[in-house]
Order: sequence, then structure tokens, then C-alpha cells
Amino acid sequence: MRARIVATGSYAPKKVLTNKELERLVDTDDSWIVERTGIKERRIAVEGETTSDLAYNAGQQALERAGVGASQLDLIIVATVTPDMFFPATACLLQDRLGAKAPSFDLSAGCAGFIYALAMADQAIRSGQANKVLVVGAEVLSRIINWQDRNTCVLFADGAGACLLAAEKGDRGILSTHLGSDGSNGRLIHIPGGGSAQPVTQESLDEGLHYIRMQGNETFKIAVRILADISLVALKHNNVDISELSLLIPHQANLRIISACAKRLRMPMERVYINVDRYGNTSSASIPLALDEAVQEGRIEEEALVLLASFGAGLSWGSALIRW
Ligand code: UT7
Repeated sequence: MRARIVATGSYAPKKVLTNKELERLVDTDDSWIVERTGIKERRIAVEGETTSDLAYNAGQQALERAGVGASQLDLIIVATVTPDMFFPATACLLQDRLGAKAPSFDLSAGCAGFIYALAMADQAIRSGQANKVLVVGAEVLSRIINWQDRNTCVLFADGAGACLLAAEKGDRGILSTHLGSDGSNGRLIHIPGGGSAQPVTQESLDEGLHYIRMQGNETFKIAVRILADISLVALKHNNVDISELSLLIPHQANLRIISACAKRLRMPMERVYINVDRYGNTSSASIPLALDEAVQEGRIEEEALVLLASFGAGLSWGSALIRW
């Protein structure tokens, strides 16, 4: 049995925040952001709009496109670093809204969260534990950004993407997934406060410990190397040459990281999917949002080989090779 992605869905909040608008919030400018990141605009959830709202819109769309009812689901996994609340899991909130009965849990693996979730879904299907699995990556990062920190507030944003996986015989589906972590570098991207190590206090709030902190430059260098390495691991494992790949969908963190990774892999940019210019870095949502757009644009033909690769907080990373 293989796990095949039978349908995708996505949702981005309607509110667009442009670089020009950011110029009014922090000491930055459109040309710096475009040159250093490739980002031109991003989507931001409106007040009251939550991660489970975004997850619901993306997940419901995937179910509708697949013609599958929520009651048919055997498992729901939501990858996120911005759950609605500590608990219950956002996946349980989503299960309730969809009207599903399946076991549901959240998974936190930074920007690699969606690939981790895909790997778990793949295992559940291959082992015969599940037939139909809904995997969602959803984030409202705008709520954990310090809007006075120009190092981070120009990068991160909100969105969601979903995949419905089904057990199928044959050659199509997820060929393999590959995961990795390096906790020793965890502090390169982290939120120091709000958890059991530094619970919320007036002092922690005053110091802004509940916001994302990132050592961007250091993260950048590691990201380029690891994204290329984990992509090669997937290709080698399946004995696939880079020339056979129809599309590479890398985590959309920074256009320069994507270009440098493509160069290392000798993958022409025409076969690399990019939407970071319109959405910024949406962490767990980045890959499924890009995958859904690529599918809707008709960029992925049946039987085409598609490689997903991601990297982020943890540090954690992963890749998945798919025969569409
Ligand atoms: O999601 C997965 C994990 N995240 C990533 O993969 C992100 C990885 N890192 C990056 O994308 C890049 O490192 C950044 C986009 C964050 C920064 O680009 P950079 O080329 O590495 O810049 P830098 O951090 O070396 O900073 C260069 C200068 C600094 O000024 P000084 O110290 O040289 O005077 C920054 O203060 O740019 C300054 N700077 C800004 N200037 C205008 C930083 N942010 C901004 C800004 N606008 N928004």
C-alpha cells in the first residue's frame, strides 16, 4: 500500500500586508525586503481569525475536492507552531468543526512540521492503521511576531494548506520521507517565554519573551546546506536523478535560500516552485500552500516526480519524494 495525495486545499487570510505598509511600522524599506528575502507581500489574519479557522478552510477544501466526507477520515494531523491554545490540540478543534470522529493530534516541528506530519500519515497508511488521513499545515504567525522587530516581522505570516491522503495500490503516492533534527542549534529560532521554562509573567511580557527570536544569518547558512542535503537523500534513496524531477517545492522562507539550494542541486529555477513573494514565510503552511497552488496551476502532471523539502525551528528538517 502507498499513501497517495488525492486532493489538496489551501487558505490564506484575505488581508494583504505589503512591504510599503511595513515601512510605516518599522525601520525597513521595500527594496531591502525584496532584495534580501524576495518577499513583496504577505497575508495576515484579522482579529479573531485563528489557526483552526485557517486549517478548517484548507482542510474542508481538500475533502470537497476529493469527494470524501469527514466521517471517512481515520486520522487528522495538524502541523503548527501557533495552535489556537496549548490544549486541546488544534487538530481536535478542527475534527469537531469538520464533523469527523478520527483520532486527531498536533505536531510541532517548526517549518518542517508539514513534512513530519506527511511522514506520520504515510506510516499510518503503509502499516494498515489508516486508510484516509487529513494532513494540515496551518499558522497564524502574526500573533507571535514582535511587530517592532524588523529582523523577523518582515518575514513571517499566516496561511494554511491541506492534503488528503488515501491508501492505494500501485506506483503513485509518497515514495519515501526523510527526517532530521539538531536540537543543539535550537536557540537559532525560538520563543523563550510562555512555556514551562519561563511561564508568562508581567516581566516576561515586558521583555517580549513570548515573541519569535531568530539569528537569521546563521540560520540562513545552515538552511541552504541542509535543504540541499535532505533533497539529495530523498533522490539517492529512490535512485532518481535531479533531471527526472518535475518540480521541487522547497520551504518558502527566503528566495535567496531557495535559489542557493537549487544551485547546489543543479536544479533549474523553472522547475522550482516559488510563492514566497506573495505569502512570506508561513512555517508549517508553506509547503502545502505552495503544493496546492502548483496543483491548481496545472504544474504537476500525473506520474510526475515532485520533491518537497523543508527546514526550520528545532532545528528540524525533512523531505518527501512523491510520484504524483
Ligand atoms: O523558516 C525557517 C527558518 N528561517 C529562515 O530560514 C530565515 C533565514 N534567514 C534569512 O532569511 C536572512 O538571514 C534574513 C532575511 C533574516 C536576513 O538577511 P541577511 O542578509 O542575513 O541580513 P543580516 O541579518 O546579516 O542583516 C544585515 C543588515 C543588518 O544591519 P547591520 O547590522 O549590517 O547594520 C540588519 O540590522 O540588515 C539589517 N536588517 C534590516 N534592514 C532593513 C535586518 N532586517 C532588516 C529589515 N530592514 N527588515
